[in-house]
Amino acid sequence: MRILVLGSGGREHALAWKLSQSHLVSDLFVGPGNPGTSSLTLTNGKQVQNVALLTNDFQSVENVLLQYAIDMLVVGPEEPLVMGIADYCKNRKGLENILVIGPDRRGASLEGSKDHAKAFMTACRIPTALYRTFSCGQYAEACLYLDSLEPPYVLKADGLAAGKGVLVEPNLDKARAGLKEMMEGKFGAAGNKVVVEQFLRGTEVSVFILTDGIHYKVLPEAKDYKRIGEHDQGPNTGGMGAVSPVPFADADFMKKVEERIIKPTLEGLAIRGCDYQGFLFFGLINCNGDPYVIEYNVRMGDPETESVMMRLEGDLAAACYSLKTKTLDKVALSAASCHSVTVVAASGGYPGQVKKGFPVRGLDHVKEATVFHMGTSAMPHVVTAGGRVLAVSATGSTLLTAREKAYRQLSSISFSDMVYRKDIGEDLMDFKKQ
Ligand code: AMP
Ligand code: GLY
Repeated sequence: MRILVLGSGGREHALAWKLSQSHLVSDLFVGPGNPGTSSLTLTNGKQVQNVALLTNDFQSVENVLLQYAIDMLVVGPEEPLVMGIADYCKNRKGLENILVIGPDRRGASLEGSKDHAKAFMTACRIPTALYRTFSCGQYAEACLYLDSLEPPYVLKADGLAAGKGVLVEPNLDKARAGLKEMMEGKFGAAGNKVVVEQFLRGTEVSVFILTDGIHYKVLPEAKDYKRIGEHDQGPNTGGMGAVSPVPFADADFMKKVEERIIKPTLEGLAIRGCDYQGFLFFGLINCNGDPYVIEYNVRMGDPETESVMMRLEGDLAAACYSLKTKTLDKVALSAASCHSVTVVAASGGYPGQVKKGFPVRGLDHVKEATVFHMGTSAMPHVVTAGGRVLAVSATGSTLLTAREKAYRQLSSISFSDMVYRKDIGEDLMDFKKQ
């Protein structure tokens, strides 16, 4: 099988890493990929190849699909999915037989429009925060609704806003100011509609499934560490670390997730004629033992994927390929009993402006962990090329041993301005003791 993975971050490196271990894969391409993806080797001895393309330019994706006779396209990021890459392939002569791992535009609107996702959850009776949606001309009405809620206040731009479209404000003045900014175009067209919702108190957990539209497999769950600073201080980032498993996501909790969230979501999609194929990421919050949906993402998370892939047992390429015949139920995928910890090394200044081009040293010294590249380039030596640079993932029989390994291995890597959180997984060790 010839596979193209679309994207260039740590998530795509981790997906390619797992796919590269399958005997079913004869050739693996990553577009545009990164220096980490091109250093992977397949079971047949071939090297994984990076190919030049622009992920949101479907003509450039098409050229690669045709040039390399791709059988299966695994889409990493949300933007091409929301823009309709799956629909494009389905309707394009010569591409119609390529299996796309990722939903069509309709399925992807679960992430592409917060208002749509909330309306869908309400109609399907899926537990989520109470909300109302306002168009940008309804500032006064939205303020009245804010008055009826308790602080803190949650405001969400309806459309994709590169992960920055959610504000959680501590008081009414800040909430009104944030609302005004959103409605006046701070996030461009994404803020044409604004979702105002009830704040939910609890601990977040990311749950992932792979689905063929009928069957689904629950992948290992993970906890993401979103804030830049230790003990969840400072601004939100794409994620500074991840841990799997998550202690409170026990069999009881996961049963509730399946019965109250996963099954109603898939049934709701099917009833609406949406043949959802691909990964689906449920951003959940545990409120006193009950799961609520904070958001859907129609792709895997980053850096959660790095932790998830480290624990995933089974042939990911076979599982993905089974989506073609809707026979995912025949494929074995399970979670290893180990713990995995991922720590992200970022450039100083992230999530704001960062300097790039610093040499990354010590990658060859890492023997006990897997280093996934998030934002690097080869010049020909590896240099920093983004806010989040590397994800160091290690496994261990306990959370403690996995953490120690990840941090020990990270300490042998260096680049100018490197920053990382030293408390990834720390709260979960405390959780265990409670
Ligand atoms: P989202 O992009 O919808 O995942 O929101 C980003 C982050 O904002 C989430 O990961 C939560 O930490 C926080 N958040 C969003 N909605 C809520 C809510 N209703 N209650 C509490 N926190 C929320
Ligand atoms: N780490 C959160 C996300 O990928 O959306």
